[in-house]
Amino acid sequence: MYEICPETPADEAEVESLYDLCFAPGRTALSSYRLRDGVPRVSDLCLVLRDPTGILLAAIRFWPVRVGGRPVLLLGPIAVHPTAQGEGLGGLLMRDSLGRARALGWERVLLVGDAPYYSRFGFSRLDHVVMPPPTNPDRVLGLELSPGAWVDVTGLVSRESPSNDQAGQGRIPPGTRSASACITVDHPHEDTDAHPIATGASADQ
Ligand SMILES: CC(C)(COP(=O)(O)OP(=O)(O)OC[C@H]1O[C@@H](n2cnc3c(N)ncnc32)[C@H](O)[C@@H]1OP(=O)(O)O)[C@@H](O)C(=O)NCCC(=O)NCCS
Repeated sequence: MYEICPETPADEAEVESLYDLCFAPGRTALSSYRLRDGVPRVSDLCLVLRDPTGILLAAIRFWPVRVGGRPVLLLGPIAVHPTAQGEGLGGLLMRDSLGRARALGWERVLLVGDAPYYSRFGFSRLDHVVMPPPTNPDRVLGLELSPGAWVDVTGLVSRESPSNDQAGQGRIPPGTRSASACITVDHPHEDTDAHPIATGASADQ
């Protein structure tokens, strides 16, 4: 059994170490990090995945950004420990976090990454959305969490104002179950229909 939980301050150092391990040195010099500087993360969607002994195997984070004045989720970084890559854990985190994002009312997601990987989750190239340079336009990918959410949303990606209450985007409507709970999942290779068995947000994709 593996546990997926929202990241807490106690996880921060481990998550940073995982990212340092998985990405090239200087990762924070990427232009996408300038969109994150000084802007609080979307905490309900930043998740850690631990094995049954508590070892951190994977993590994903999200930030709020703006495109054409509209709120957008910036997905990433996502990383899986090198010893556990290719086992489906990245897919688990992708599907669970996107399910939570939809449940929280987010409409559209943006990332910079490899289309051959992210297309399996429904991402496709955004032709009219521009990341700060230098970014390869082929790697600017988007996903609609509600139909048509990217239609006519174009232009330069800009930082969210740190003062903006992004919880307003993701505020849980009354009567909706919390999206901030932990879930327990089988290892994908032990059960290809990995499913949450605990109460809380489910990976609904
Ligand atoms: C990319 C990453 C998050 C994927 O997680 P994972 O748990 O290893 O991937 P999964 O097990 O869910 O999926 C494996 C599949 O994805 C494919 N895949 C993994 N990375 C890929 C990439 N960069 N491009 C294309 N396909 C990729 C594998 O070939 C495999 O394909 P298959 O299902 O046809 O066999 C992980 O490999 C990782 O942390 N890599 C280093 C950091 C990184 O590049 N992060 C993404 C950029 S933000």
